[in-house]
Amino acid sequence: MTLHLLLPAAGIGQRFGHSTPKQYCQLAGKTVAEWTLDLWQHVAIDGQRLIVLREDDAVGLDMVQQHASLQPVTGGAERADSVLAGLNALDTGADDWVMVHDIARPCVRTADIDRLWHHCQSTGNGAILARPLTDTIKRQHDGRVSSLDRRQLWAAMTPQCFPVIALREALTEALAAGDSITDEASALERIGVPVDLVEGAADNIKLTRADDLALVEFYLRQQGRLA
Ligand code: C5P
Repeated sequence: MTLHLLLPAAGIGQRFGHSTPKQYCQLAGKTVAEWTLDLWQHVAIDGQRLIVLREDDAVGLDMVQQHASLQPVTGGAERADSVLAGLNALDTGADDWVMVHDIARPCVRTADIDRLWHHCQSTGNGAILARPLTDTIKRQHDGRVSSLDRRQLWAAMTPQCFPVIALREALTEALAAGDSITDEASALERIGVPVDLVEGAADNIKLTRADDLALVEFYLRQQGRLA
């Protein structure tokens, strides 16, 4: 079972509100993307390490040149297009697996990544890091508000880990059907493939809005990665 790594990094981060894509914001002397890459250097990946970049992303290509093991791939309009472009660029065998991880989640813990991979190896099921929700969640639809049963709700995080061929087929099918796919797991769920949830630490946040940057810095400090 070879394990590959795929880092989608072709987003523009519309909700971040900066002209610089959020993954290239500076945080204590390096970019958010570099904080994420540094962490993955400590994870045993025996396959390829791919990063999906926007076309003409000079900053991204510069960064790739400093990481000998990293291969760039050009992404697409939506996250699912970018992930599929990455999967199509993998030189993969029938038993290969892939971990897909948002470049904008620099605080993921190696212990959680290891637990996720161990879960996939021991069960043979694809799985994702996720968190049980603590807030009461409201749904607003057609002018009416209703509440969902919190005990059944989890927030999906990354990495998300699946067999390469199954994920590639599921994403190809979902995109051809025109479905909106915001994570890898949903592409498999829509065709009835079971997906397991592995509980991960709450500090694995996705940098989304500008104020999240201070929180990322706080978590990196708390984890001892930043003095
Ligand atoms: O936009 P969002 O925060 O959901 O993006 C999650 C991840 O997907 C980020 O790492 C982003 O760079 C990536 N992405 C991508 N291609 C896109 C859109 C997002 O690789 N077209």
